[in-house]
Amino acid sequence: GKVRAPTHIISTISDDRGEEPCYAGVPMSSIIENGYGVGDVISLLWFKRSLPRYCTQFIEICIMLCADHGPCVSGAHNSIVTARAGKDLVSCLVSGLLTIGPRFGGAIDDAARYFKDAFDRSLTPYEFVESMKKKGIRVPGIGHRIKNRDNKDKRVELLQKFARTHFPSVKYMEYAVEVENYTLTKANNLVLNVDGAIGSLFLDLLAGSGMFTKQEVDEIVEIGYLNGLFVLARSIGLIGHTFDQKRLKQPLYRHPWEDVLYTK
Ligand code: ACO
Ligand code: LMR
Repeated sequence: GKVRAPTHIISTISDDRGEEPCYAGVPMSSIIENGYGVGDVISLLWFKRSLPRYCTQFIEICIMLCADHGPCVSGAHNSIVTARAGKDLVSCLVSGLLTIGPRFGGAIDDAARYFKDAFDRSLTPYEFVESMKKKGIRVPGIGHRIKNRDNKDKRVELLQKFARTHFPSVKYMEYAVEVENYTLTKANNLVLNVDGAIGSLFLDLLAGSGMFTKQEVDEIVEIGYLNGLFVLARSIGLIGHTFDQKRLKQPLYRHPWEDVLYTK
């Protein structure tokens, strides 16, 4: 029989050996002929399956809504400063991406983890939030620097509206809203933020689409796929900010002394 040399790499998402590349077994020509979009490509390469249209549309909406949030946020600020230091596109991009984490844009996976655990254990919002407080952990997906009860995040409203119309169930998102109602009794800016909205809604997508086993949902949440949505989306804006600075021929950035409190 055939003797197979042991391989050093195992790969299961794509194959470039045939006449045309395949994503999760789907040839490139079908992707184009079927009018697939970037949501379908993400479904194939991240989840290794074709998802129903409302799911791929939801993924695309997440990408569009998170593509940028102005020049003042951590990521864009870093990319702008890096561009003004004369660095190349990739350096500007990764400098911005490196700010994505538990406080900024990278709270989606933890929001999904904590909301799922609290909902599945039937904790009331009060029990959930207070238990987090006891542990000294801020609730991921809650809170914003500039958004508040009277100036809610439009992106969150748009995601909720889409999901309420198209998802079979939005139980995790409704739970996150109940948590928000409770945290808003503590402070005005403790709104459900875009990370919390995506985290809770993706749980609904995973659990309600009938496309994933319970074990697969647990694995996706445990590994942490969902921050990838923000990373991918915000790369669009960070690249845009880099081009903008270069187009404007902006000089080296130096922060003004007046804006630093020099103290001992
Ligand atoms: N859960 C519980 N309490 C909170 C939370 C939260 N998520 N956020 C703020 N608070 C409370 C705390 O008591 C905090 O005091 P502490 O510093 O002693 O913990 C107090 O509010 C004051 O916090 P603020 O100054 O209002 O918060 P800040 O403006 O510094 O932070 C931030 C905003 C970083 C978003 C914060 O709310 C947070 O850490 N949220 C959780 C992480 C998260 O979801 N990040 C994603 C934001 S959306 C995005 O980046 C795209
Ligand atoms: C963002 O999308 O970058 C934000 O929600 C963070 C911010 O402070 O605006």
